[in-house]
Amino acid sequence: MDTVFVSGPLLGDAREVLREAPLEVVEDPGGVGSEAFARAADRARGIVALITDRVDAALLARTPRLSIVANVAVGVDNVDLAACAARGVVVTNTPDVLTEATADLAFGLLIDAARRISEGDRLVRAGAWERWSPTFHLGARVHGMKLGVVGFGRIGKAVARRARGFGMHVGYTQRRREPEAIERALGATWVPSLDELCATSDAITLHVPLTPETRHLFDAARLARMRPGSILVNTARGPVVDEAALARALERGPLAAAGLDVFEREPRVHPALLARENAVLAPHIGSADRPTREAMASLAAANVIRVLSGQPPLTPVVPR
Ligand code: NAP
Ligand code: GLV
Repeated sequence: MDTVFVSGPLLGDAREVLREAPLEVVEDPGGVGSEAFARAADRARGIVALITDRVDAALLARTPRLSIVANVAVGVDNVDLAACAARGVVVTNTPDVLTEATADLAFGLLIDAARRISEGDRLVRAGAWERWSPTFHLGARVHGMKLGVVGFGRIGKAVARRARGFGMHVGYTQRRREPEAIERALGATWVPSLDELCATSDAITLHVPLTPETRHLFDAARLARMRPGSILVNTARGPVVDEAALARALERGPLAAAGLDVFEREPRVHPALLARENAVLAPHIGSADRPTREAMASLAAANVIRVLSGQPPLTPVVPR
């Protein structure tokens, strides 16, 4: 029987589905750093990996029989794709099933950051709310705002669909312009220059993968080009934004607020960001609703079973 290492826990019946395949399932929440993985590495044909697992050349050297790495995430920056391709190891991810959940969270962070909901919650709990006043706890106007979407893929488009309901004006940038029919359907305008999008948007929301090209895409210089009083939302990957520079832009301007689900060195957060009242901080929960997490686990399991039984994977990143 083939062996699959599962970096658990997985929600739903994914583990049972793997066992019934039939496959030997070795599971450990410690992931590829665990003793259980070390013991199973030389016989493992598949790894169901989480974003906290680093799959690199060193790991591939310990797994001579490996055929598939099924990442339980759409982002695959934790996996050395070139090393897997060179070794003939298939890599899969979990696109689509988490798109709406992640867009929900991005939108939630945008509204929270703009209207200062979490900050207000802390204030109420601290007993610092004295009375209603016309000038008290003012935030930015959400409906009708100009929203700049950086990375207009699955999640970026799902955010744009939500923005329509709020009467927002959506601009987007990425390397490839979308077909006109999609722009029209989503009411979105292509803005080829990221700097122009930054200078003309009331809020920017990030939906690019982490690649060498997008690492620190929002550094001090880029943040300085954002509109005074604007908002940055990041549900993409932490290293897309220079956290120290972001903390400075939140303290001295031009940013009014930020909503962040991802950080450069998770689970650690830059102390200067922790100190900012105008930063809403979420613990990487973009896809964290139960049906979404079940669907992600189920898709990863299906990919493993298909590859180990000689079929093409459903959602390949590195195909066979
Ligand atoms: P996707 O459909 O592949 O969309 C990514 C978009 O980014 C593409 O349309 C791509 O267009 C654009 N892009 C790539 N490189 C770019 C660059 N250098 N400059 C500008 N645009 C660029 O991916 P998705 O499913 O929307 O997911 C996006 C990312 O969200 C994932 O990679 C993951 O890191 C993150 N994510 C986070 C959570 C969370 O829990 N917070 C959950 C799910 C996903 P072009 O190729 O035309 O440039
Ligand atoms: C989560 O961060 C994902 O990439 O799915």
